[in-house]
Amino acid sequence: MEFTQIRDKYISFFESKGHKQIPSAPVVPENDPSVLFNTAGMQPLVPYLMGQPHPYGTRLCDYQKCMRTNDLDEVGDVTHHTFFEMLGNWSLGDYFKNESISWSFELLTKVFNIPVERLAVTVFKGNDIVSADSESAEIWKRLGIPEKRIKYLGEDDNWWPNMELTGPCGPDTEIFYFRSNDEIPEEFDTEDERWVEIWNNVFMQYNHNEDGTFTELPKKNVDTGMGLERITAVLEGVTDNYASSIWKDVIEKIEQISNLKYNGNEKAMRIIADHIRSAVFISADPAGIKPSNTDQGYILRRLIRRAIRYAKKLNIDINSNWEEEIAKVIMSKYENYYSEIKENKDIVLEVLRTEKTKFNRTLENGLKEFEKIASKIQNGKMDKDNAFRLYDTFGFPIELTVELASEMGIKVDEEGFKEKFKAHQEISRAGAKEKFKGGLAATGETETQYHTATHLLNAALKVIVSKDVHQRGSNITAERMRFDFSCNHKLTDEEKQKTEELVNKWIDAAYPVTKTEMKKEDAIASGAECMFIERYPDVVTVYKIGDVSAELCGGPHVENTSKIPHIKIKKEEAVSAGVRRIKAEFVK
Ligand code: ALA
Repeated sequence: MEFTQIRDKYISFFESKGHKQIPSAPVVPENDPSVLFNTAGMQPLVPYLMGQPHPYGTRLCDYQKCMRTNDLDEVGDVTHHTFFEMLGNWSLGDYFKNESISWSFELLTKVFNIPVERLAVTVFKGNDIVSADSESAEIWKRLGIPEKRIKYLGEDDNWWPNMELTGPCGPDTEIFYFRSNDEIPEEFDTEDERWVEIWNNVFMQYNHNEDGTFTELPKKNVDTGMGLERITAVLEGVTDNYASSIWKDVIEKIEQISNLKYNGNEKAMRIIADHIRSAVFISADPAGIKPSNTDQGYILRRLIRRAIRYAKKLNIDINSNWEEEIAKVIMSKYENYYSEIKENKDIVLEVLRTEKTKFNRTLENGLKEFEKIASKIQNGKMDKDNAFRLYDTFGFPIELTVELASEMGIKVDEEGFKEKFKAHQEISRAGAKEKFKGGLAATGETETQYHTATHLLNAALKVIVSKDVHQRGSNITAERMRFDFSCNHKLTDEEKQKTEELVNKWIDAAYPVTKTEMKKEDAIASGAECMFIERYPDVVTVYKIGDVSAELCGGPHVENTSKIPHIKIKKEEAVSAGVRRIKAEFVK
């Protein structure tokens, strides 16, 4: 059965049992900053599980986009995916164990035609909060699951999500399928990997509060989740998820692009397929995530960069449009189910292409640098400085460096890297702040006064020293102003004194400071002073001080020169050829 049919049949089955289909929520949660991605179908439903009435009623079903990235580096085996779809059905204080279990059984055995002898279940064996779930066990027995195929397990296995996390939770019953041609053992053994879990029915009737206590929810809910990738592989009789209808043509596309067979290149092809699919869904999401160095953007960046590295391993020409071809196959499989895929196709392709170009520029050199570093390592350990260099200069996410290193049996000082990374972030944050303070955007009262004073100083220098004086830079703190200007000679004491006197005279004259918006060319034509003409937009703000000064500037400024204290020139010095600097302070 094709995966689209499985999805459709799941939904129509639950619709036939009175459920309303709700749309999949975005993969980036809308109102929950505590998680980067939706990790389960129930996540967007938390307020309703807590008691708020749902506009669609008390019986809901859907297929929900989910992302689990904590085992990202395990992707490459037969079952792990970063993105997956979860089929789910919910009772919000409506039906409980009997209907939930009976319908799961009916769907699996009647619609999906799974023979009963291939099924086994676990139920909760009880703890201090809830007693053993013999009720569920009885229902399973009545449906035809033999006693030996029912296992009672503790809270580590049969409590969802777990005892530590806060929020709605409860005991669950999990359904397993025997995936092997071997003879099915009479007794169900959860340790036997031929039994794979396919569905989880949670009887969600508690809230785990922040203070550690458990309280009964206003209503008893049911929350179920079945991974579409897993059930598809089961129903199609394959043990490798990537051999199912979800992935087959994606893998074929990668075979075609690389001119290699899946057989022998499984890991690389699975990683490329999985990561491109996840990147497609993240970048198509309405949240508008772009590759970056934080949060979802960083996950997106890691996914794309890791896919590129594996494409390179397959000798795919990175400069070709390989990623686009793969993404297009993936999108064609989902666009009828997720409108954002259809609508944001171009955005997705643009994100992939841009990030690829960015990384590709440094990848080759980064790999060479990595080899060089690795060849010099004696003690099997890469230090934090080298790991940081690979990150900072070549854009290697630390996880990529760790993965490359582990392939050579080398360990990376990840802790050291993290410390260095943090320190680096603090420096650049401080740097940004410093820049902000020193630039035109300073907002304190004294800085604003100094800012207007620089305009006066600029104008006074033109009168006293030369009309060819122009501003070359300025830096303001709450303690002083620094003003750099074009001039070929050291100012004489007389020039300094006269400049200072003129500025102070203008301050006393109580000139109004006015702000006008005008076209850039008109502003220039009017003779307004301007430092970097090309840096200004077409429409500019001109600050005028009486009729002594007019400058293109973003502000802020005082409204009247009378608001500024007198200035005192403290120092005049050379900065570079043809540029002088004045340091001045207010006279308090
Ligand atoms: N919320 C449950 C799960 O994710 C159904 O397994």
